[in-house]
Amino acid sequence: MKTFKRTTITSALPYANGPVHIGHLAGVYIPADIYARYLRLRGEEVVYIGGSDEHGVPITIKARKEGLRPQDIVDRYHSIIKKSFEDFGISFDVYSRTTSDTHKQVASEFFRSLYEKGKFVEKTSEQYYDAEAGQFLADRYITGTCPHCKNEAAYGDQCEQCGTSLSPTELLNPKSAISGSVPVMRETKHWYLPLDQYQDFLSDWILQGHKEWKPNVYGQCKSWLDMGLQPRAVSRDLDWGIPVPVAGVEGKVLYVWFDAPIGYISNTQEMCAAQPEKYGNWERWWKDPETRLLHFIGKDNIVFHCIVFPSMLRAEGTYILPENVPANEFLNLEGDKISTSRNWAVWLHEYLEDFPGQQDVLRYVLTANAPETKDNDFTWKDFQARNNNELVAIYGNFVNRALVLTQKYFDGCVPALGALDDYDRQVLADCASIKEKVETLLDSFHFRDAQKEAMNLARIGNKYLADTEPWKVVKNDLKRTGSILNVSLQLAANLAIVFEPFLPFSSEKLRRMLHLNALVWRDLGRTDLLPEGHRLAAPELLFEKIEDNRIEAQVKKLQETKHANESSEYRPQPQKADVSFEDFTRLDIRVGTVLDCRKVPKADKLLEFRIDDGMGGRTILSGIAAYYPKPEELIGTQVCFVANFPPRKLRGIDSEGMILSAENPDGSLTLIQPKKELSNGAAIV
Ligand code: MF3
Ligand code: ZN
Repeated sequence: MKTFKRTTITSALPYANGPVHIGHLAGVYIPADIYARYLRLRGEEVVYIGGSDEHGVPITIKARKEGLRPQDIVDRYHSIIKKSFEDFGISFDVYSRTTSDTHKQVASEFFRSLYEKGKFVEKTSEQYYDAEAGQFLADRYITGTCPHCKNEAAYGDQCEQCGTSLSPTELLNPKSAISGSVPVMRETKHWYLPLDQYQDFLSDWILQGHKEWKPNVYGQCKSWLDMGLQPRAVSRDLDWGIPVPVAGVEGKVLYVWFDAPIGYISNTQEMCAAQPEKYGNWERWWKDPETRLLHFIGKDNIVFHCIVFPSMLRAEGTYILPENVPANEFLNLEGDKISTSRNWAVWLHEYLEDFPGQQDVLRYVLTANAPETKDNDFTWKDFQARNNNELVAIYGNFVNRALVLTQKYFDGCVPALGALDDYDRQVLADCASIKEKVETLLDSFHFRDAQKEAMNLARIGNKYLADTEPWKVVKNDLKRTGSILNVSLQLAANLAIVFEPFLPFSSEKLRRMLHLNALVWRDLGRTDLLPEGHRLAAPELLFEKIEDNRIEAQVKKLQETKHANESSEYRPQPQKADVSFEDFTRLDIRVGTVLDCRKVPKADKLLEFRIDDGMGGRTILSGIAAYYPKPEELIGTQVCFVANFPPRKLRGIDSEGMILSAENPDGSLTLIQPKKELSNGAAIV
């Protein structure tokens, strides 16, 4: 196997058009972070590069919807995302953004360099143009009827009703989402990266040279290559992005998937410029063949990181290529695909509001369930079970017992190790063998199994204490008790090391309790980490049990989301049978002002209205009390009512008419209230 001097780790730059959720964390950022922490602990030279992806059409659509500039949108989400990553201990060496000045310059230069070397082909094609708005339309900006299912709200790239991917010219009755006008075809010129010319190089490099890549990654690359690659446009007609740096070109920007991966390079440059003593020259991280480049991504990004970006790097000619691209599959949530637009997600910033200080619990569960080889499911029940039955009952319990007993019998000082029996030897040998096991797994990106091994060590310790029962032994053999606790404390120190890449917050806490300074990976497996007499700090709980009510609250929150989504797909009731115009005119519907409004005693549904109807006033009862908990607030507003109902007695009160309300999707009622003040008694015709 090839050996390297240093490693450049990148993780996909998230789009700054929404916060990050557990799917992002599980698939991309946690594995990359575990790996980066592991290499650092080993004392290797490594950088972990991150940042926000701030260009592209979806950001402009969001901005337009909110009446803001795209820059406002990305400013908002860049800071939210950056903070979430910090909160979860994602240990980036740099976290910048693709709207930075450095990036604009680096990406432009990259394009110029390929342009000048003649690496692009220029092609003219016809595309939809909105003549009213004076701009070309991105696929997402065109709506129309789906040719397959006749959904009238299909987009130029996809019909969300039947799931078919479309091209804008397939839409029937296309319309511009910007002005609503009918778009016209117009010629436009773009630059293309001729991927077909890289076909042989890519086949050699991936299919021959990287058979060790994960099967999901290798398989996707193979199927792209088998289909045959086509030239890809690297520019777009759009006003949000990095302007195409060619003289005389206007209104064109670099395609977001051209500029974003260059963001890895720009952010490395920013990092090196800010701390040159620590990181040296940026080119070491990108141009030295002794540097190993790794891209951590989700499966939807495979083609860009394995085919497109490597072709760009190759075309430029001075860069190294990725050594591996350990892409993951997707994480689902409670059986459904995570979706930002349907708010079907656990957002990181919301998780921390509900589970403050419990970042490691989520890190643990997401790694235990990481979608490494297939899509996986996150459920709150499993989250609770893994916390209570594994983190609390095994790891936390073991450490706590070892520390508390040492406190109790040995005044908080590490006792001497006496004569060992077979069991002690076995446990110490298991501990010594953990290092190699975990290394083999981490080196091949098997994070779930690596974490399982770490937990196994805690399991061994927990069982050791349960079997040896030092709390009983102490009654007649203090020396033997000391030995058992010494062995246990050595295991605890090892747990602090082996869990450091996975659960950094807990490892830090454990090290504080053990009064241990920073440990290094090399120490893992040593059974003499805590010398006899070493004083420990006061024990605290490493993890806390999560009670049912907190899990139920999360499940309820999701149910409400589901409910809200279903209501927004509300289908109105079917239309009733026809009535004649005469039937209609016989109804006398009028406007009046509420003079008084109060709850009817002992009738929880009813409100009693006193109405100025322009005809001397009347009283009407209406069954809407549940939806207007403060009836007094209706006083002075206007309502509509049917005036020619014969009076009816309800709860001893004469009700003279019926007030009009509309039914909401959830069955609640809302009064129909005129927007403009009308004369009391005005007839609705
Ligand atoms: N923003 C993209 C996504 O979330 C990922 C961009 S990765 C980069 O799918 F390489 F382009 F930066
Ligand atoms: Zn369709």
